[in-house]
Amino acid sequence: MPFDPVYDRVRAIIPPIEWADMEEDVLAIRALKAERRAVILAHNYQTPEIFHTVADIVGDSLLLAREAEHTDAEVILLAGVHFMAETAKLLNPNKTVLIPDMRAGCSLAESITPEDIALLRAAHPGVPVVAYVNTSAAVKAASDICCTSGNAKKIVESLGVEKVIMLPDEYLAQNIARETDVKIIAWAGHCEVHERFTAAEIQELRLRHPGVVILAHPECPPEVVAVSDFSGSTAVMADYVSHNKPPRVALITECSMSDNIALINQDVEFIRPCNLCPHMKRITLKNIRTALEMMQTEVFIDPAHFAPARAAVERMLAVK
Ligand code: 13P
Ligand code: SF4
Repeated sequence: MPFDPVYDRVRAIIPPIEWADMEEDVLAIRALKAERRAVILAHNYQTPEIFHTVADIVGDSLLLAREAEHTDAEVILLAGVHFMAETAKLLNPNKTVLIPDMRAGCSLAESITPEDIALLRAAHPGVPVVAYVNTSAAVKAASDICCTSGNAKKIVESLGVEKVIMLPDEYLAQNIARETDVKIIAWAGHCEVHERFTAAEIQELRLRHPGVVILAHPECPPEVVAVSDFSGSTAVMADYVSHNKPPRVALITECSMSDNIALINQDVEFIRPCNLCPHMKRITLKNIRTALEMMQTEVFIDPAHFAPARAAVERMLAVK
């Protein structure tokens, strides 16, 4: 196939025969973005053809929230899951925020309701509630401040208290509790992708791939993080690989993450134990194209939740 600067970004991972099926949608999406004055924000778990050929901004949940706050596009299309689109809308009340498939949810966001938070507050009077961004706007509205896996320790410590309620990810809460003196009360929510990794699997990886450096997302169970070499958000893992260039690495997280960063670190060998996030995988080139053509599906926030949910996100973004 002749030189094509767009295909060239994914040539190492997408064979020409598959690209032939994608190219028309990629070109259409690139034209539609200009026509609609739209920007595509894509999470690190999106597939390589989305991440490398149509996205304008890629990153972890924290970076996507920060960038959503600063874009001057008229339309934001979120190639990610619903809570990420809600966060973008909270920060951009006057812009059109689209998500290509409304069913792109998250097991963590599903695991807790505002009523649960009311019960927790009654059981722990005066203890502030830190909500992971992987929650609905209604849950954010019932919380004091948000956090992501990239800033959780900093947020917890920024409150200057002895004890916090941190929800809904039990494993993230336990992993952060090991790094701070602040006492953390957790909730029993789990990420359906990361909870499946086991410490035995990590030990076996080390035996089968001598010298491998193991990076685990903090949504993994604490015993998995304990036997890994490093833990951090998806962006922190990507930075680790780019800066340290370990000869051999395994990312204990969602599948597409390795594909995406392997393309920009071709001198690093990626060992790929991987679990798919079915919610992230609902987003495709085809439904991104339809979303921009039809300007659907637009994300709205219940007005009753808007101001307090936005305040919880803004408080997080204000912590430097
Ligand atoms: P990051 O903020 O690390 O990108 O994580 C988001 C997520 O959903 C991980 O499962
Ligand atoms: Fe939610 Fe886990 Fe999917 Fe992330 S990987 S969106 S936490 S289900």
